[in-house]
Amino acid sequence: MPVGKEKSAILDQQDKRVREQLSKIKHKIMVMSGKGGVGKSTIAVNLAVGLSLQDFMVGLLDVDLHGPSIPKMLGARELKLSRRPDGRLGAIKYSPNLKFLSIEPLLPSEDSAIIWRGPIKISAIKQFIGDIDWGELDYLIIDAPPGTGDEPLTIAKTIPDAYALLVTTPQEVSLIDVKKSIRFCQKVKMRILGLVENMSGFICPHCGKPVDLFKRGGGQKLAEEMGIRYLGRIPVDPRIVDTGDRGKPIVGAYPESITAEAFDELIRNIIAATELMQKELLEEKYMRIAVPVSAPNKIETSEERFSLFSIYDIENKRILVKDVVKKSDDQSLLDFLKEQVVTHILLFNPTEELSERLDKENIKVLRIDDKDGNPDQLIKDLLSERAKA
Ligand SMILES: Nc1ncnc2c1ncn2[C@@H]1O[C@H](COP(=O)(O)OP(=O)(O)O)[C@@H](O)[C@H]1O
Ligand SMILES: [Mg+2]
Repeated sequence: MPVGKEKSAILDQQDKRVREQLSKIKHKIMVMSGKGGVGKSTIAVNLAVGLSLQDFMVGLLDVDLHGPSIPKMLGARELKLSRRPDGRLGAIKYSPNLKFLSIEPLLPSEDSAIIWRGPIKISAIKQFIGDIDWGELDYLIIDAPPGTGDEPLTIAKTIPDAYALLVTTPQEVSLIDVKKSIRFCQKVKMRILGLVENMSGFICPHCGKPVDLFKRGGGQKLAEEMGIRYLGRIPVDPRIVDTGDRGKPIVGAYPESITAEAFDELIRNIIAATELMQKELLEEKYMRIAVPVSAPNKIETSEERFSLFSIYDIENKRILVKDVVKKSDDQSLLDFLKEQVVTHILLFNPTEELSERLDKENIKVLRIDDKDGNPDQLIKDLLSERAKA
């Protein structure tokens, strides 16, 4: 077999394992922010531990390859990956309900410096998901490094149904960064779960009561402005630093504290939001419809010529965004649709065979009779028909 083919067969195998693993995980949430030090890892760890204390099965994946902080924050630097009876490696067991994985325990020594080039990062992250057994999970929380680089991009491509949880602090600069993260999500087609404002207000170390030392509430205002969900706020609390350093997340170490209560409320809102988003998908309140086009206003009818697609994001029977995307010639139609996280495709007279292929990937076909219709208008008609029904 030529080398190129062999390599692509191995990659196909890996993609298959990744898909199998992901199908066993109900909700995937990537914690992200424009800059570092805003508390992403802190939020990710407390969210994961908090959910596991409520009897959810949780995985916590640290994809910060340059500065992994999850093992330290969990106080679990000594724990190693487990080997399953079938020989596969399993994520590290932190408690009966919580597993995690980070690059740190896979490196020879704590402070070994690795130069990560883009492609190696991508392959490491894919192995974290496909080669390591996570089992069945209710939630997979992914802690990403700051910014919009290789790591969040790989997650967006590898886990098309992951939601983004955006973290900000009340400062103006951090709020500007949120807008960048929102644009990133729109570009890579990642649905946004909502926004958390961290370090919002101050918990007095003497009396344990909240004090509004700094400005707060900017996150909520921004969320409203940008049309995304506001999920809650976490105050500045010196015990967060201390418990983070000691490896005892505050939700477990001080469950009665105001800060742990703030996390509880955040977690409640996150559970409700993930369920709502899943429901929207099932009830087709949220749809992403692809329409093959030959020119901006003309439907393409023959699969051999499918190349340009208008992609419509629909929420509550309204078009949120329309985007025109080109499929590269070497990419199959189905791979393209999956990468674009398409839920529906609008087709004129599709063949049985094509309909079956789409059906297998759970992409629904919307059939039209008028191949000369204007795509925008066809989508609008379809939505108004559904609104009547
Ligand atoms: N609400 C908070 N109150 C006090 N300290 C916090 C809070 N959130 C995070 N920190 C501290 O800020 C530092 C950076 O947090 P971290 O979660 O590592 O940020 P990121 O992952 O975004 O870089 C850590 O020392 C952490 O303990
Ligand atoms: Mg971090």
